[in-house]
Amino acid sequence: MNEAVQTSSTFTPRVFSGIQPSGGLTLGNYLGAMKRFVDMQEAGTHETVFCMVDLHAITVWQDPAKLQRATRELCAGFIAAGIDPKKSILFNQSAAPEHAQLAWIFNCVARMGWMQRMTQWKDKAGKNSQNASLGLFAYPALMAADILIYHATHVPVGEDQKQHLELTRDVATKFNHDYGVDFFPITEPVIEGAATRVMSFRDGTKKMSKSDPSDASRINMTDDADTIAKKIRKAKTDPEALPSEAKGLEERPEARNLVNIYAGLSGLTVDQVLADVGGKQFSEFKPMLSDLAVSKLSPISTEMARLMEHQDEIDKILAHGAGQAREIAAPILKKTYEIVGMVGA
Ligand code: AMP
Ligand code: TRP
Repeated sequence: MNEAVQTSSTFTPRVFSGIQPSGGLTLGNYLGAMKRFVDMQEAGTHETVFCMVDLHAITVWQDPAKLQRATRELCAGFIAAGIDPKKSILFNQSAAPEHAQLAWIFNCVARMGWMQRMTQWKDKAGKNSQNASLGLFAYPALMAADILIYHATHVPVGEDQKQHLELTRDVATKFNHDYGVDFFPITEPVIEGAATRVMSFRDGTKKMSKSDPSDASRINMTDDADTIAKKIRKAKTDPEALPSEAKGLEERPEARNLVNIYAGLSGLTVDQVLADVGGKQFSEFKPMLSDLAVSKLSPISTEMARLMEHQDEIDKILAHGAGQAREIAAPILKKTYEIVGMVGA
């Protein structure tokens, strides 16, 4: 028995979240995830653990050299956005093997039917699900392991991850019930703020995504100022002026998206933004949004590029973070093995 491991009444307030190193970071990742990670780190109310989930990335094909680069670039992105390796644990998933080990246990706890209901599985596997990887199907069990191997109490994510977090709660509940323990916490999702679902610039009903074939549909964190301005200028809108209240954005997905982005970048609420820009035409609002986006994003992309010149530093930070992560994860895995009945745990 490892006495350092806690039961649910005494869980340390701890935040965990992950981002896949598959392709570049978008404005959606920044506003929906990273910026909020930084806020939680700075609030100082929780331990904060952030992960580049490379094992999740390979559930669909990744070119090995590109995966390595994307993992380091994502690490540079985290740091450039404000994650401080002295305040947060920052590492890549495969470097802490306890994630994959706990995921196996969870593969045996979670049910096929739960996985089949996941909308991300249905979207990603598409019509040819027989040809999708087994890993893509089991993806949410690995995600539950990412979170629960730290006994994380809170998980900040974008809206699209809500269903996966419900499954994480189901896994924890079933494990605790089946083994008659009170061992894994029932983690709270943190899906807050104006920009938990940043939409495509081409279609206000679709999520902004790094996998969208149209580069004009998104802002990449590596876009330069001219590109950002051009994409915002060309973003789809409607012919009406902006309303003065949030209610006036219902039924106007493109307008709502741009206002949400403005709110997310400025730290204002949607109502505060509209109090200021209500009545303006997009021809006036878009340059304001562009200036704001460039002023917030350019320093991040410049710092990312600078950090990418120092890959040895990045690798050192990742190795250090993995060591810290494993100090928390190893005793929790050991205790899980004991609970399950593994000899020699
Ligand atoms: P991914 O890039 O799919 O690994 O996503 C990493 C994090 O970014 C998750 O918390 C997602 O919910 C969040 N995210 C991705 N795309 C968006 C978006 N368009 N709007 C808001 N959050 C997003
Ligand atoms: N599934 C998440 C996404 O695609 C990434 C992820 C993996 C994650 N493990 C996690 C997010 C654990 C939060 C917590 O966005």
